[in-house]
Amino acid sequence: MDYKVPFVNIPKQYRDMKEEILKTLDDVLLRGDLILRKDVKEFEKNIADFVGTKYAIGLNSGTDALFLPLKAAGIGPGDEVVTVSHTFVASISVIVQAGAKPILIDVKEDFTIDTDKLEEVITKKTKAIIPVHLNGRCCEMDKIMEFAEKHNLIVIEDAAQALGAKFKNKMAGSFGLAGGFSLYPFKVLGCFGDGGIITTDDEKLAEKVKLLRDHGQKTKTEIVCFGWNSRLDNLQAAILNLKFKYLPKWINRRREIAEIYNKGLDRTSGAELPPAPNFDERYFDVYQNYVLRAQKRDGLFNFLKENGVETLIKDPIPNHWHKGLGLSNFHLPYTEKLAKEVISLPMYPELTNQQVEYVIGCVKKFYKR
Ligand SMILES: Cc1ncc(COP(=O)(O)O)c(C=O)c1O
Repeated sequence: MDYKVPFVNIPKQYRDMKEEILKTLDDVLLRGDLILRKDVKEFEKNIADFVGTKYAIGLNSGTDALFLPLKAAGIGPGDEVVTVSHTFVASISVIVQAGAKPILIDVKEDFTIDTDKLEEVITKKTKAIIPVHLNGRCCEMDKIMEFAEKHNLIVIEDAAQALGAKFKNKMAGSFGLAGGFSLYPFKVLGCFGDGGIITTDDEKLAEKVKLLRDHGQKTKTEIVCFGWNSRLDNLQAAILNLKFKYLPKWINRRREIAEIYNKGLDRTSGAELPPAPNFDERYFDVYQNYVLRAQKRDGLFNFLKENGVETLIKDPIPNHWHKGLGLSNFHLPYTEKLAKEVISLPMYPELTNQQVEYVIGCVKKFYKR
């Protein structure tokens, strides 16, 4: 179906950047630089400088950007790791894959971890917290870091959706032992396939993650541990370096669009909006997703679809309710309520103001009927 306002628009971005992209691909291919070459190093430097950490290590996905730091930090069987259920399942699965037990808690109104619940779940086995900066909004990192220090816990930030987001002027991915970012195509900064990167100030952790991403190979001839193949492709890194130049502009545009949505949908009864860009000066939200809490949510989804607006209902079933995951012992009232209400509107820098206004008009029309 051809939407008037598609949920994402990769072809538009490609058309806008076609010449530069083709030149970049040509340059890399003519050099023959495909695995862990200079473009990966350059991208790692770009991200470390941008986030404000000493190190950044390019990986094959945002999932591994959470999994490898957990492994490198020695999290495993017998350990408990606290995170939320209201997230993409990867935030939880990395804990299970590391051999530890996920302990899920509720989120608060802005969809980030409810720090008041931390005290209730901590045990002697708790080793780490994975706060998820969902939708491009940071968690309350001051409270989380204070709690973690008090209880001697590791913090691995799930910053998959939050490159460029800040809390109290400090970047997502620079608070904890490590931050894991996704470079999946639809992210604030996305490549042409899968990709991820971790940021950290910890030299030992950085070295370990570098080993783990490349089968423990310290040099071409020395293998020091078992690992995985989790390298960021050099070709993807070259594309990311190109796109990185536009990141500040793209983030601003996302914030502009959020402002237009918030103004246009203000006091639309039936739709609860995310906080506006300048609502609380502690937060610099990059609006990876613009998510409403909508009454009659499924009706809104269908109405928008009929009117040519593509939206996304990402988690109609909370993660802890999926039978196959074995997490049904958790009871998380707010998360369960959100699953019935959340809907993501189109949000990407290439959207025109007219398209945004059109979406606003459709949402208002639905609630006035
Ligand atoms: C919150 C969150 N965590 C982790 C991930 C995993 O990232 P990837 O898909 O790059 O493996 C994602 C990806 O969408 C995510 O949104």
